Amino acid sequence: MGAGIAEVLARGGLAVVGIEVNQDALERGRGHLEKSTGRAVKRGRLTEDARREILGRVALSTDFADLGDCDLVIEAVPERLELKRKVFATLDGVCRADAVLATNTSSLSVTDIAVTTKRPTKIVGVHFFNPAPVMKLVEVIRTVLTEPEAVDRVAALVTGLGKTPVTIGDRAGFVANRLLFGYLNQAAGMLESGHATRDDIDTAMTAGAGLPMGPFTLMDLIGLDTCLEVLEAIHAETRDRRHAPSPLLRELVTAGLLGRKTGRGFYDHGAPKVEAPAPADAPAPVVGVLGTGALADAFAAICDRAGAQVRDATAGLADCDLIVEASGDADAGRELLAAAAQAAEPGAVLAVTSATVPVAEAAMASGRPADVVGLHLPDTEGALAEIAATVATGPGVADRAAELAGRLGLTVVRCRARAGFIVDALRFPYLNDAAAMLGAGYADPDSIDAAMTLGCGYPTGPIADLDRLGIDRAVAVLRALHAETREPALAPVPLLTEHVTAGVPIR
Ligand SMILES: NC(=O)c1ccc[n+]([C@@H]2O[C@H](COP(=O)([O-])OP(=O)(O)OC[C@H]3O[C@@H](n4cnc5c(N)ncnc54)[C@H](O)[C@@H]3O)[C@@H](O)[C@H]2O)c1
Repeated sequence: MGAGIAEVLARGGLAVVGIEVNQDALERGRGHLEKSTGRAVKRGRLTEDARREILGRVALSTDFADLGDCDLVIEAVPERLELKRKVFATLDGVCRADAVLATNTSSLSVTDIAVTTKRPTKIVGVHFFNPAPVMKLVEVIRTVLTEPEAVDRVAALVTGLGKTPVTIGDRAGFVANRLLFGYLNQAAGMLESGHATRDDIDTAMTAGAGLPMGPFTLMDLIGLDTCLEVLEAIHAETRDRRHAPSPLLRELVTAGLLGRKTGRGFYDHGAPKVEAPAPADAPAPVVGVLGTGALADAFAAICDRAGAQVRDATAGLADCDLIVEASGDADAGRELLAAAAQAAEPGAVLAVTSATVPVAEAAMASGRPADVVGLHLPDTEGALAEIAATVATGPGVADRAAELAGRLGLTVVRCRARAGFIVDALRFPYLNDAAAMLGAGYADPDSIDAAMTLGCGYPTGPIADLDRLGIDRAVAVLRALHAETREPALAPVPLLTEHVTAGVPIR
């Protein structure tokens, strides 16, 4: 991170002094700088002359005394409080009294570092994201001791470097990691409990929630040891058991399986890629779609695209391969499904689509529970189908449902019949956490959205997501998750319920 940050500063036209512990580490740092800027030249993003100028602005040294003239020092030593405190004590001794000292810590308390220095008013956090030259977000952290001028100077500097500063208080995980790691840990818990497989959870979050990568791919990229450290730090502050690192994550770290950097973590990165078998050529199924709302329309549109014949209740359901209850209303849906169960031939699969009504309840009410599965589309654009069997579902029925959904052109994942299936069960608690942050006045909507888009590469921020997906839907799914798990943090936060009651969007 140190080399990346030095590169960002030098690219911004600033003179930089880079300090390392010893000559070997210094040469490694020089290598990072040369390689990264060399890559930029190769890609045509930097001229050879500009590269020379950038490298010329960075003086490398192992002598802390060389920092004597600096206006700002950014510390990026390993994430250990005692080491950071030691480094700051040295900086206190060599730096000018008016110099601002910043830490790039991801998870330690900036205040814990500040209180042991002789200049707590001049200590800030500047949290760059990896890789620093690429990622646009920098979280600027003020403690209760930091003077406003120090924060303003650092935020202005970050803007001058072409990055977006988000200024916030000193809470574990700041904005981005606090929101991200609750979700990552929940995904690990889902895998551990057998709710769904690693691949299905990763596929669900990319195909169904539009994320650039799934949670297990991302954790392997970040490094599982870092994930564990960040979660421990967040949990130490929140005492929220959702932040207690998943035992599976800890076990992988203990075993030295740290993700990409060691070749194996949740994935074995050395294993040859297994190509998914091409789907067998089969005729499009005949599908019954029950209901008249937006969800029913979405299903009918999916069937049309796949060339499947669509029947509704009035057109007769006898020859349907799949009958989808998509009324969007629990009571009406139950009646429609019971009627369809009488009309359908043996062998037809009956599917209920609600992410909030327990699938087993709807299945029992149908009178043909062995033929019923949950089939949820987390996004009505219709790329992903989540299929869930209940304990009453007959053998092979979920396989048949998956095969039929595949013939409709949907990407299919499987999970247990639990509220929210995979995508909604993972994304709405994350959105609830973002709303909690907003409700607590920790960060404004723009900062929260910038943290996730610019810091984590999410296509949209959580506050925008809440308005896009619907806060009424968020509240309904959270209530279902809370009813099922009784997990206090899954109850919708007051800000959300208030907005639903008032009928106004969050922004
Ligand atoms: N890696 C990330 O994705 C990432 C992202 C944001 C923030 N951070 C934070 O940045 C900091 C550094 O992380 P990293 O991943 O670059 O770690 P790293 O272990 O890759 O690099 C740390 C560097 O600090 C040097 N160092 C150790 N003791 C030193 C000392 N006393 N004086 C000067 N240099 C010393 C080491 O030689 C090493 O080159 C941590 O606080 C981490 O939480 C990391």
